[in-house]
Parts: sequence; C-alpha cells; structure tokens
Amino acid sequence: MIDQKLSATSALRDPGFEFGVATSSFQIEGATRVDGRRDSIWDSFCRQPGRILDASNGDIACDHYHRFESDLDLIRELGFQHYRLSLAWPRLIDRNGRLNTRGADFYRRLLEACHARDITPNVTLYHWDLPSDLSGGWLNRDTAFRFADYAAIAVRALGDVMPRIATLNEPWCSSILSYDIGAHAPGHEDRAEALTAAHHLMLASGLGLQAMRAERADNSLGLVLNLESLVAVSEDDQPARDLAHAERNRFWLDRLAGREPAPELMAQGRVPEQSGDAAIMATALDWLGINYYTQSQVSRADNRRGYDTATRAGVEKTHIGWDIAADGLTELLVEFDRDYDLPPVYITENGAACDDVMGVDGVNDDQRIRYFRDHLAAVNTAIEAGVDIRGYYAWSLMDNFEWAFGYTQRFGLVYVDYSTQVRTPKSSALQWQQFLGER
Ligand code: NOJ
Repeated sequence: MIDQKLSATSALRDPGFEFGVATSSFQIEGATRVDGRRDSIWDSFCRQPGRILDASNGDIACDHYHRFESDLDLIRELGFQHYRLSLAWPRLIDRNGRLNTRGADFYRRLLEACHARDITPNVTLYHWDLPSDLSGGWLNRDTAFRFADYAAIAVRALGDVMPRIATLNEPWCSSILSYDIGAHAPGHEDRAEALTAAHHLMLASGLGLQAMRAERADNSLGLVLNLESLVAVSEDDQPARDLAHAERNRFWLDRLAGREPAPELMAQGRVPEQSGDAAIMATALDWLGINYYTQSQVSRADNRRGYDTATRAGVEKTHIGWDIAADGLTELLVEFDRDYDLPPVYITENGAACDDVMGVDGVNDDQRIRYFRDHLAAVNTAIEAGVDIRGYYAWSLMDNFEWAFGYTQRFGLVYVDYSTQVRTPKSSALQWQQFLGER
C-alpha cells in the first residue's frame, strides 16, 4: 500500500499538499517532424549508431502529440490534480527565433485541456531538447541569451495558461552527463566543456527568469535540479565524495545562492565567467524543484573527474540498476534546508524503472509501490524536520523514451504497449488512485 508508512496526521494527507505526475516533451510527444518542429540535439543523437541502447528514437514515442486529450483524462481518472510537462523549444520557436504559431497552437490546446480538467500544469521550458541549429549548443554563451528570448516568447504566447514554470530540468544532466560523461546529447567527453556548459545553463536560467518577469508578474517561476545521495566507500574516499557532492548537488545551489562553488571543482575547468554573471545566476526563484532517484557510493579515482561512482552490494536495485535509498532523500533535503535559504520546494520527480511484465491481470509492479511508499515517507520525515515541501510529482505518468536507454526502461504508472499505443494502468497507478481518493 502506497500510504502504509504515512500516519493519519501525515503532512502528505493535507489537502493543500499537491500531488502530480510528470513527463517531458521529447520522451512522450513523438510527431517530431510535424507542424514546423525542427531538429533537436536528441533527434540527431538518436541517429548516431551506438548512442541509444535499443537504437530507438523519439519519432513516435507515446504519440502524445495526437493523444494528449485521453492522456489527460487518465491523469484525472487517477486522481492527480497537477501535471508537470515540458515545452519543446524546437516546436515553439522557429529557425529565425520567432514564435512557430503551429507549435504554440498545440501547447495552447494541451494547456487549456489541463485547465478544463482542473489539472494545474507545471511547465518546464528546457527538458533537454535543444534546437540542433543553435551552434555550439551549451558551449556557446549565446545559447543562454537565445534561451532567455525563448522564455520571453513562451510567456508572451502562453503565460496565461502556465501558472507555474521551470526554466531548466536537471542542468547537471545537460552539462556533466552530456559534455563530460558523454551519455547524453551531444555526447562529448571533456571535463572543461562540461563546466562551461554548466555555467551557461545557470546563466540561461537566470536570464530566463528575468526575461519572464519582465513580460508578466503572475507566473510562479522555478528551476528543477536533480540531487543524488552520495556516500564515501571508505574514509580515504571522503574528499572524493565531497568533490562529487560539490559537483552533482551543491554547485547548483551555490550558484543560486550567489556563492562560489567549491574551488577544487572549479579548478577542473576554466569557466568563462564574465562580470555580472554571478548575480544573474542568483536571480531569485519562487520555488525549487528537486528530482531524486538514487544513492551512489563514491571512491577516489585517477581520472579527469577525480572520483568514480558505483552501486552498493547488498542494496536493492531497480531494473535500471539504481540503488533504492529513500533515506538519502531526507538527508539531502535537511542538509540543503540547513545550508541554503531555500524557496518552497517541490519534489518534481521521483520514481522507479521496474521489470514490468504485462500479464493477464495487468502489471503487478510491487517494487514500484514500495518505492513510492518509502520515498513518500522520506518526504514526510523531511517536512516534519522543518523543510518547506509543497508537493510531489511521480515520474512518470506513463512509460516513455528513457534517453540513452531507449524504450528498455519503464518508469510509468501506466504501461504503454508501443506497438498499439494502448495504455494500461499498472497496480501502482491503482494504488495512487486509492491513496488520492482517500485523502
Ligand atoms: C530525470 C529526467 O528528468 C527524466 O527525463 C528521466 O526520464 C528520469 N530522470 C528517469 O531517468
């Protein structure tokens, strides 16, 4: 039972606490070549042999572009009142940097359909589908300014139906994972590039916030970070663990707080900082989104990062191979609440990829149910410890394109049969329905 560990007085039973599901444009929309959408770096990355585990792409994905009405019905039927989604930059903005009206029409219909069902949308502007023709991608400082232009155009066109907006999703992934580890588009392996990209992403977020505030005053604006719990393998590995923690977790919060990130991290690159950048990156947020999935152990290593991460023997894993460690979420929330002046926090993603098999009686995803139960309890503990957490979004509404893993990993509450596009709620979805119905 999803709520087994939540006492009757739990903060999560408060009707004011918001529950939602989350998705992102490239992972579900498909329709990559219609209505004037141009190529994103993920379209081109998918075309490179060996980049995606099952050699798949986002061309069709969940065909949400054509099925959004029934997908929103599903969200409503499950009892969620909040939905986190993203806009595809290459769909909304044309090659000349102007609004693509056909793309805007799609998002207006989608967002109005959310409101018509009493579902409050929380819209991320950048969930990794960068237009491919922005030369140099995030290595080019100009991309931060193009992002701010896009943000301004987006709120001008759709601001009335986007009460809550996030600038970026998980900038760690768009920088370190994409430019250093090489697992995400554009697939580079260069530490200094990654730190440059990280700088430009945080600059983009700050410029985007300012551009949106100049357009309208009534949208609640945030940023979504992915945080990972990290433990040292041994005492000798503690400095390496602290370095990894500085990079994966604290760098982003330091930038938001207007503080210098850890010098041992910054020494690994030559960040192209210009005067005034720090203040732009510290532009105030109305809320902070936190995505949490797992914990890793860290050891010292003789590589360009100075550390390695690994899973832990004896710890239960999900199908994607990630350790399950709900306590890590509480610890991170409490640490950051202590060390930074955080705005209200939303858990904008949390969920598990399980070995889901469709049987005669549907998909019994007990591990996912336990995962949600334990992480909700962890959120509740953090609230009791004083962290101002206002909501929780489960990742994901339905199975979808899991980036470099293609369609091999299923994170959905709802099972998607990709050959027919039939959606079937898994046991976890029915558990959520019951939990939300009883609140
Ligand atoms: C974080 C990302 O925001 C999302 O796109 C991804 O599918 C999930 N984590 C699971 O890896």
